[in-house]
Parts: sequence; structure tokens; C-alpha cells
Amino acid sequence: MKRVGFVGWRGMVGSVLMERMLAENDFDLIDEPVFFTTSQVGQGGPDIGKPIPALKDASDIEELKAMDAIISCQGGDYTKQVYKDLRGTGWQGYWIDAASALRMEEDSVIILDPVNLNVIQDALASGAKDFIGGNCTVSLMLMALGGLFNADQVEWATAMTYQAASGAGAKNMRELLSQMGAAHASVKTLLDDPASAILDIDRQVAAAMRGDSFPTDCFGVPLAGSLIPWIDTQLPNGQSREEWKGGVETNKILGRSNNPVPIDGLCVRIGAMRCHSQALTIKLKSDIPMDEIQGMLASANDWVKVIPNDREITVKELTPTVATGTLSVPVGRLRKMAMGGEYLSAFTVGDQLLWGAAEPLRRMLRILLQ
Ligand code: HSE
Repeated sequence: MKRVGFVGWRGMVGSVLMERMLAENDFDLIDEPVFFTTSQVGQGGPDIGKPIPALKDASDIEELKAMDAIISCQGGDYTKQVYKDLRGTGWQGYWIDAASALRMEEDSVIILDPVNLNVIQDALASGAKDFIGGNCTVSLMLMALGGLFNADQVEWATAMTYQAASGAGAKNMRELLSQMGAAHASVKTLLDDPASAILDIDRQVAAAMRGDSFPTDCFGVPLAGSLIPWIDTQLPNGQSREEWKGGVETNKILGRSNNPVPIDGLCVRIGAMRCHSQALTIKLKSDIPMDEIQGMLASANDWVKVIPNDREITVKELTPTVATGTLSVPVGRLRKMAMGGEYLSAFTVGDQLLWGAAEPLRRMLRILLQ
């Protein structure tokens, strides 16, 4: 692959992508990496260990058109701004995108190669050019539970999510910390006094969180010390768009949109930084023994890690604090539920910026480059 263009490489997902590409020496495989910008045309690009041209204009269709592949982490508005015009010129290059804008288009493939390499390879063989990263929650769920889905053992599933601030953006992560700081500051004097009453502290924190000066510009409401039981926009049927994505994207990734597994749930924002967690109830097609389930899950890919359903191990190893910044996808709390042997519970955690965003893009480029 000669020329690969990068757009949005300086943002949060783009920076994670750059870090991972450098760590894996991916740039060694690219003859000409070209970096685009929306604001700093002509300036120097990032240090990737080899010479690169000055930054090019991300809205210049002629420059974009010269690429064999483009990776965009710039966001859906950018995709909407350039994609049609670019394809309108007859451009036949590969478009790899972190944004959701093109995800459900018929010609697009949602990429998660540890789960759907077969779907990706079939699409490449039939000439597909648009490869789009999936919704983070969906990708992380499939990294954890791919073993059961690929064995076609899931009759239906519900996911109750605990999604991190990073899914809402970099500014939201900052705001979460500002909220934590504001909550703490509002009761610092009382906290410093061991004789103060906890209910006074609680009342004062609640008043601060409800007050006008609590920082809520990004989330609109307090997240620290609270939660937000709605993610993304509202759909007419009462689902949030995030919940809708759980069903349609899972089935598209698995290449079974024509024979979908029903998947629905409730998506909730919590005060974690960049790891999404989710609690699942899975209706299996049969009463599969637990050791077989564990085996299926553990052998599905190199990153899933089955955590024994033991309290000590679970509280230490199945948390955002442990998973953050790693490619490991722990899954645990595996047990048969009171409803019967076909009902399995599971809890999984994963880094929203790695497998949830940047890593599938990086790996798709690798597939094209090799
Ligand atoms: N929609 C996700 C979230 C972001 O808000 O957490 C990644 O798909």
C-alpha cells in the first residue's frame, strides 16, 4: 500500500491510534504516510520515525483522492462533509472510519477482525472499500462474548451498560474530574474533621451537585456521584440510539442482519474514565455446561480473559481500574441464573478507546497492508 492518509490523528481516538501504530511498527509497512489537518495546513506532522510531507488540507478532495487508503478519526461531520464528494470523483481507495456516519450503509463493513475476519475477507473479495469501526459498547461486548455468538449459541441477550465518560468525548472526561473536584471541595472542611456527621456531608454534597455552579457544560447534569441513564439521542420507540446500535451493529458485525439475534438493553453513563462495563443476561439455545461456556469464551480470541466467578478475584480483576489502557477484555460473573440452565449472566469490562475505537481501525489497515 503506497499512500495512506490520516485525518483526525490529533484527537483522543486518533492519538490512541497513533500510539498503537507506533508501538506495533505499523508505519514500517506504509510507503507514504500523509497527515491531514483541518486547521494547520503546511505545518509539520507528527514524529513517526520517518520523513513525512507537511500537513495537507483535510477538505481538499484532490489531495485526499491521491491516497490509496484514508483513516479518519475526525468524526461524523467530517465524514459527511467529504466522503460523498470524494467517492463522486470515482476514488476507489479504502475508507477506514471511526465515526458512525457510514456504519449502517449497505456497502460498509463494521470491522472487528478478532470476531468477524470472515465477514471482512468476504467483503474485500467482493470489492468492498468502506470499513467502519463499530460502536464501542458493541465491539467490547463481542470481544468478550464472541465465543458464544460464533458458536451460534445465543438465542437473545440483554446488555445493561455502565459507560465511561470517554465515550462522550475528551471534554467530558475533564468535566467528570472537575465534578469530582467540585464535589470534594464543597465538603472539604467537614471531611477534614473526623467528628463531622456523615449526613451533613451528604446534604452539603447533594446541594453542591444540584447548585448552579456545579460544572455541567458538557454532560448537562452531574455525573460524578450520580449517573445518567440515557446515552445518545431518543428514538421514537423509546430506545436510545446507543441501545438501538447494540442490536443492529452486533448483527451486522456477525454478518447476520438477515437472521438477527435479538439484542436490547439499557445504556447508562457512569463516572468511569475510559472503560465501558456491561452486565449481560444471555438466553442460550441450550443448557450448555459452565466449563464448556468458559472454554468457548476463553478460546475465541487472544484478548478475552475469563475471570472465575469468585468474589476475591472478581473485585480485583474485573474492573475499569484494571482494564484501563490495556487490550485485555475480562469477562466474569459467569453463572447460570435462577430462571434456568439456559440463562447465563456475564459481566465484562473493556477500554473504550482501544478495542472500542482505535484498535479495530489499526488492525484493518494491517489487513490491507499485508
Ligand atoms: N456512544 C458511545 C458512548 C461512544 O457514548 O459511550 C462510542 O461508540
